[in-house]
Amino acid sequence: MSTNNPRITVIGTGYLGATHAVCMALLGFDVLGVDVDSSKIDLLQSGRVPFFEPGLPEKLAEALDSGRLRFSTDLDEAAAFGDVHFICVGTPQARDSAAADLRYVDAAFAGLAERITRKALLVGKSTVPIGTAARLTSLVQTISPLGPELELAWNPEFLREGFAVADTLHPDRLVFGVSSEWAREQLARVFQPIVDEGTPVIVADLATAELVKVAANSFLATKISYINAMAEVCEATGADVSLLATALSLDDRIGGRFLKPGLGFGGGCLPKDIRAFRHRAEELGIGQAVSFLGEVDSINIRRRVRTVDLVRELAGGDLSGVRVAALGAAFKPNSDDVRDAPALDVARMLYLEGASVSVYDPQANANAHRVFPDLNYADSLSESVRDADVVVLLTEWQEFRDADPDELGALVRYRRIVDGRHALDADDYRLKGWEYRALGRPAQSGTVALRLDRRDEVAAT
Ligand code: UDX
Repeated sequence: MSTNNPRITVIGTGYLGATHAVCMALLGFDVLGVDVDSSKIDLLQSGRVPFFEPGLPEKLAEALDSGRLRFSTDLDEAAAFGDVHFICVGTPQARDSAAADLRYVDAAFAGLAERITRKALLVGKSTVPIGTAARLTSLVQTISPLGPELELAWNPEFLREGFAVADTLHPDRLVFGVSSEWAREQLARVFQPIVDEGTPVIVADLATAELVKVAANSFLATKISYINAMAEVCEATGADVSLLATALSLDDRIGGRFLKPGLGFGGGCLPKDIRAFRHRAEELGIGQAVSFLGEVDSINIRRRVRTVDLVRELAGGDLSGVRVAALGAAFKPNSDDVRDAPALDVARMLYLEGASVSVYDPQANANAHRVFPDLNYADSLSESVRDADVVVLLTEWQEFRDADPDELGALVRYRRIVDGRHALDADDYRLKGWEYRALGRPAQSGTVALRLDRRDEVAAT
């Protein structure tokens, strides 16, 4: 690669930023990763990833070894170093409303704008309400000694946790939200190796680029809630949502991805993004256009309540004093992220009804303990299920899929299981004497192998 490559900074080194910084270094750029959290920076600089993400530790080691990646807490250093600055800080849900909390984004853009003294491009990657990039453009150009020379672009990121490296290096598409040809050229240079693979590029205005991200996440959330709404219909009619999902997935126009019924979506993106989108639409006076996202949210939350109902049913109608083994705490497998995790929410509701809950997650116990210290946490699957009255599968880790129903059965007090993720072999469990229940399926439903797409499978690392 040419020596006059743009130098890159990545501000914010969470799931998105740390992965982006590592991948940009692997693509041949000199990269400086910056975060206000010095413990995170120390870990990354010493080659350790502060969260669980398959494949990332190896890639971090490779990037550090290349000499092209380093980390710092110093924004002055970032301003002096970078030609293209990627802002990857979080936009969590505000404490007191459904809106996105933009304080970290505003601080990062303003902090850089005050310090940058030569022409540079600030690129937002965080998920933000439509109109934020336009507002930030005026903000940074007012603050900056460079005025309009300091340009801003938006480049939304679609990476999924558990697939972060692959999604960053080989995305389905790139979106460049720009206001000038110069800004487009900078992004084209930075993403050249990815574009050269034939990745489609959409060049758009700032508002469209912001909207692509929230529209994509809203669509995915809607697809999941759609099949989960059908699960509710199945529960009332005796139909089987697994067979239904399989039949729908075979229609190419519908497809099977994100059509997996169960406990529903959680995490740091989908739930807060649909809420922030609704909130922004209200502000814009077009609330009706996306009011259906309120239903999407409600359907999703009702799955959690229904899961608790099934556990209570299996326990004989009352949860007080019942020993429940809760398998999983992360919002999905191959992640240690418990933000808005359906699993943890169900465990909490069971606990509040008086159950004695033993949670086990292969990676997320520590994060879960921080959020809900009152639950019991087990160090292994067998410890969690020992003497359980009911087992409930909440996150479909491979370890739980692979568990032997007989071996588990030897440990529990009663062989009763609720499969909150349609991940287990119903026939096998019944054969081994378990009472098996799953959301949206009749009490005696048999095994249905939901069609999985290899693009949704994490490769063994
Ligand atoms: C999501 C988007 O997929 C990604 O493009 C964006 O950049 C960030 O938000 P992520 O939050 O990592 O990524 O998780 P994702 O794989 O989308 O799963 C979200 C939730 O939906 C999980 O809780 C998962 O268990 C649930 N889900 C997913 C289902 O319940 N059914 C499905 O069919 C698919």
